Amino acid sequence: MCGIFGYVGHDRNAADLVLRGLKKLEYRGYDSWGVAVGHRDQVVLEKRTGKIGDAVPDLPASAIGIGHTRWATHGGVTEHNAHPHLDCAGRLALIHNGIVSNYRELREPLVRSGHRFRSETDTEVVAHLIEECLAATPAGPEQLVTATMTAFRRLRGLNAIAVADVRTRQIAAAKSGSPLVLGWSDHGHLLASDFSALLEHTRRVTFVEDRQAVLLSRERCRVFDADTGRELTPAITEVEWEAAATELSGYPDYMTKEIHEQPAVLRRLAEAGGEHARRLAAMIRDAGDVFVIGCGTASHAALAAQYLLARIAGRRVTVASASEFPYLGDFVGEGALVVALSQSGETIDVIDAVRAARQRGARIAAMVNVEGSTLWRLADLTVPLGAGPERCVLATKSFTAKLAILLLTAYELADEAAAAATLIERAADEIERLLADDRRDLIRHVAEAIHTREHLFVIGRGPSYPLALEAALKVKEVSYIHAEGFAGGDLKHGVIALIEPGTPCLVLAPRDETYDDIMAGAMQVKARGAMLIGVSPEPHEAFDYHIPVADLGPATAILNAPPAQLLGYYLALLRGHDPDKPRNLAKSVTVK
Ligand code: G6P
Repeated sequence: MCGIFGYVGHDRNAADLVLRGLKKLEYRGYDSWGVAVGHRDQVVLEKRTGKIGDAVPDLPASAIGIGHTRWATHGGVTEHNAHPHLDCAGRLALIHNGIVSNYRELREPLVRSGHRFRSETDTEVVAHLIEECLAATPAGPEQLVTATMTAFRRLRGLNAIAVADVRTRQIAAAKSGSPLVLGWSDHGHLLASDFSALLEHTRRVTFVEDRQAVLLSRERCRVFDADTGRELTPAITEVEWEAAATELSGYPDYMTKEIHEQPAVLRRLAEAGGEHARRLAAMIRDAGDVFVIGCGTASHAALAAQYLLARIAGRRVTVASASEFPYLGDFVGEGALVVALSQSGETIDVIDAVRAARQRGARIAAMVNVEGSTLWRLADLTVPLGAGPERCVLATKSFTAKLAILLLTAYELADEAAAAATLIERAADEIERLLADDRRDLIRHVAEAIHTREHLFVIGRGPSYPLALEAALKVKEVSYIHAEGFAGGDLKHGVIALIEPGTPCLVLAPRDETYDDIMAGAMQVKARGAMLIGVSPEPHEAFDYHIPVADLGPATAILNAPPAQLLGYYLALLRGHDPDKPRNLAKSVTVK
């Protein structure tokens, strides 16, 4: 939540450079944004509510700048509350990601000593606190970072802060919990919440660890232990993602692009995912209890893991939403394995759950997309999703990538690894066909038929149940239509009361042992007037619309994902919503 970007170097176009960085971070929050640069030793600021869009900053030339894109926690969505926040003298500009949980007790003495507050945020207190600390720190090249560390040590909560001192042309930052990455480029030094925002400048990065502080100037970039003040040697990593992978490449939006990238991602995994799956399978084999956790879409992949591992490999695993997992902590101990699923590798509930499990002696395996993310670095075994940057807030290709790795792992456990790779390749071919042929138009047509409805229900049984949950999530988060996914058998235990004539109901009916029962449930809602949209290899007279999908045995789960992704997409367009940035959401949820 919230994107941080900072630059100090030789390029005097800092405002443009920072704004470009913020656009890449907008998936982290997009209710307001702001950029600050230095001009004649004073901060000059531009802040606006809403998405960045085509905004061009109206700021003076400067070689130092910081910027922020916000997902509001404390204080409404207003220009005053947008970051950066300034000290009283207009010398410091501060940006923040996280929550300062003790901000009220910090603010009182600052107000008493005359600091003027201009916002309702928890963040602004940090700007004034650093201002105080700066005044109490002896002058010298490390004055800013020393003051920042002193202030940082007084903050409670999980935070990343960055402050630009336009007088000394330095940026200092510190973090605990929220991500922060340094970029080393030929023209200067950068920092951002996510390295993909740095790729147009450099692939040489340093992942800042918790309780570290950094000091950036045009010439140098230094890292410190934020608790002791001791200087550390920064570890520089070369990341693999290409800058071009973050561009739209001719697609109208990231959601379309990422849906269409699925076949390529699946083929790469079929070819190269085997080794990772082997390692994960070995860990699962050696473990006692195995827990699979995730949030949002990743929690649906975790539920799919339960079915795939049970049915293909006869391995029982316990699945939990990562945010609920700590309450099951008593069962986690020595010999247990926690498999954490996360696209971003930064979701706070996942990170917290993993840290707690590790303390209890569990081993950690992680399926993560973002290279170098917190979860990536934390795990005993990291299985890369290899899906490339996912910018649309809705998870699409990272979801099917997780399913593919789970399938590889389940078949590996059953000593049938080669079968999985073939299935995944066939799934890639099938998705490619679906995205190119008239089923796309059919799905658009279904969206036209239902886009004014209030509710949508999705049912699936067995391995299709997690897919029903995921289909409903896709539709509701991007179209704002109330959509609910259910296990087919649960439908008549209450939900059926909501079925009215014309209520759309998406039925996932693969040709497996769930077919007869799911169709029986579908007929019961049909009898009460529901409009049935069948996603199935088989046509059925009860379907008002039939979206044919191939029959790929256990890999059919992968095929069941794209139709709902497209349905959500078309519904969003028909209802006039931005498919990449749905209201109130953020892609990376780094606060509780
Ligand atoms: C947010 C996003 C979802 C995502 C979830 C977990 O809620 O909007 O799309 O599934 O976080 O994210 P992760 O990065 O851990 O997979």
